[in-house]
Amino acid sequence: MTAQYGPLTPNDAARCAELEAQLFDGDDPWPERAFLAELAAKHNHYVAARVEDKLVGYAGIARLGRLRPYEYEIHTIGVDPAYQGKGIGRQLLSRLLEYADGATIFLEVRTDNEPAIALYESAGFTRVGLRKRYYRVSGADAYTMKRERQ
Ligand SMILES: CC(C)(COP(=O)(O)OP(=O)(O)OC[C@H]1O[C@@H](n2cnc3c(N)ncnc32)[C@H](O)[C@@H]1OP(=O)(O)O)[C@@H](O)C(=O)NCCC(=O)NCCS
Repeated sequence: MTAQYGPLTPNDAARCAELEAQLFDGDDPWPERAFLAELAAKHNHYVAARVEDKLVGYAGIARLGRLRPYEYEIHTIGVDPAYQGKGIGRQLLSRLLEYADGATIFLEVRTDNEPAIALYESAGFTRVGLRKRYYRVSGADAYTMKRERQ
């Protein structure tokens, strides 16, 4: 199985919402319109992983601020449960890091999301803060993680 990587497009929004519902059940999964809004925003960058034309993963990052040096924030990353553990999440993340071109990057992650935390730590992110009840629906806490300018 080899995944292909490329841009995420508005045609993928419905499939993204379907994956979100599986991946973030109980935690305010984004609906199709949220993906359409993300894709339309000028300073966002979204990538897709496909296997035989089926969307199996997606990830997005936003550029913050108007003046250099820019900072970035990872908005989401998700891999179809049937395709997890095969290196797709790492590939998606590395494409976001490439886009951010060595700048400072932030993200929020649930404190109990061990797979995601392990992935982020292995890519150079460290925990810099705790946001209590960050996830509105579940009330779960989040770590803020930061990757320093490289
Ligand atoms: C987090 C997620 C995107 C990782 O995607 P993936 O394709 O399964 O990850 P990869 O196969 O590329 O693994 C990359 C690294 O993640 C970590 N990881 C992945 N699955 C893991 C698990 N079950 N337990 C612990 N660490 C894990 C490891 O550090 C792994 O590196 P290694 O293979 O060298 O040990 C995926 O689990 C997912 O979609 N989770 C649900 C959505 C989510 O939580 N997104 C993040 C929100 S902040």
